[in-house]
Amino acid sequence: MIPPHDALVEDLAELIAIPSVSADAERSGDVRAAAEWVAARIVAAGGTAEIEERNGRPLVVGSVAASTGNGAPTVLAYAHLDVQPPDPLELWESDPWTLVERDGKLVARGVADDKAHLYMLLQATSLLAQAGELPVNVRFVIDAEEEVGGHSAVDWVGEDTGAADVGLVLDGGYATETLPSFCTALRGICYFHVTVRTGERDLHSGMVGGAALAATHALMQVLSAVLPGVDGRLPEPLRVGIVEPTAEEIAGWNVLPHGSEELAGQGARPTDARAADEYMLRTTAEPSVTVNGFEGGSPRLQKTVLPVEAQANVSIRLAPGQSTAEIAPVFEKLLRDAAPEGATVDVDLWSAGEPGYVDPASPAVRLALDAFEHVLGRRPVLVRSGGSIPVVAALAERGVPTIVTGFTRPGSQLHSPNENIPAAALRDGLETTVELLRRFSALGV
Ligand code: BES
Ligand code: MN
Ligand code: MN
Repeated sequence: MIPPHDALVEDLAELIAIPSVSADAERSGDVRAAAEWVAARIVAAGGTAEIEERNGRPLVVGSVAASTGNGAPTVLAYAHLDVQPPDPLELWESDPWTLVERDGKLVARGVADDKAHLYMLLQATSLLAQAGELPVNVRFVIDAEEEVGGHSAVDWVGEDTGAADVGLVLDGGYATETLPSFCTALRGICYFHVTVRTGERDLHSGMVGGAALAATHALMQVLSAVLPGVDGRLPEPLRVGIVEPTAEEIAGWNVLPHGSEELAGQGARPTDARAADEYMLRTTAEPSVTVNGFEGGSPRLQKTVLPVEAQANVSIRLAPGQSTAEIAPVFEKLLRDAAPEGATVDVDLWSAGEPGYVDPASPAVRLALDAFEHVLGRRPVLVRSGGSIPVVAALAERGVPTIVTGFTRPGSQLHSPNENIPAAALRDGLETTVELLRRFSALGV
């Protein structure tokens, strides 16, 4: 039933060629074109689809009915069609928008995050429907603003009253190169933009330096208030609500590579002496803060200026148990309270997403584990993930048992140049998705 590898690659290359970068306003036409491509595929599979306009961005909503008629369970399938910006372009070894196979890998922007997964959902449904063997109704909600923290899919899931016996979120990956995994929880996120002003115009740093407040210094003080201490932990007010991992979860981390290996594999350096030992705890069970970027004054040309404006993007990943409503105001207050007198601080919350939870004991998860093991020969491990997929919280809120998984690898270079998946992952993933849809027919309705 599954087409040969080359045919799949050629087909997926069409979607990859559409540069659907949600963060870049100049690419909004491409985001729309990708939405149209997806909607057309759902229709071609024998279903119906529409593109909803939400917050100025498209959201593709569609469905393909079970071949078996009434009474079949319904799968709510989620993936996102938007991708991260491709820069820095000079680090790509081939054009980011051309899907190429190199050294056993498929390489292109979005191939891992999340277009191959989106393609698997569409193609698995289509293959089964065309064969008259689709045993479940498949409803699609395909996000076009996941990579900018948009909430259109979250809102849609909250408003929707249609059937949803199981959620299938294909936007995750393997725990190691060879070990599949299902996410049991994901971190939430609050993403802030901070602007500090200390006057009307830049000044001569010799004439007033030492006596006048500089925005760059004020911003450093402000940001320091939310950074971790020497023990690697965030300030206590930012740790409120954390649900500690269970003894069973901690024991489960033993099957994963040591943190030093995880860090080295990503080309990352540990923050402190205990970071590698505590890798899983720090990245999946504790909140973390990252200053994603800052700007102010003259960081490149030599200029003896005393800057009066500086800005930063700073985000906090929320641990399972925490909520954006509780943490966002606390975070903002810590920033404001740390500002020196005379500095004006503007704090904008650009986006927020709740931590996500999955019930690992649900019959849907058990069926899915069996399906993966059957096709791939390995039973996935259940682990928390440090990344964020805001729709997962909305599915949990609705009580939809959900599977969050995927076929990317630690070496897939998500959000980075030369993003890739193993070439074999495309067919493996498609075969597994077909098997999942078949087995979901056993879910009671
Ligand atoms: N697919 C990722 C999240 C992810 C990464 C899940 C690794 C599991 C393993 C997703 O596309 C992503 O990057 N999300 C953003 C959300 C943010 C922009 C609100 C993230 O985590 O930074
Ligand atoms: Mn993703
Ligand atoms: Mn992503």
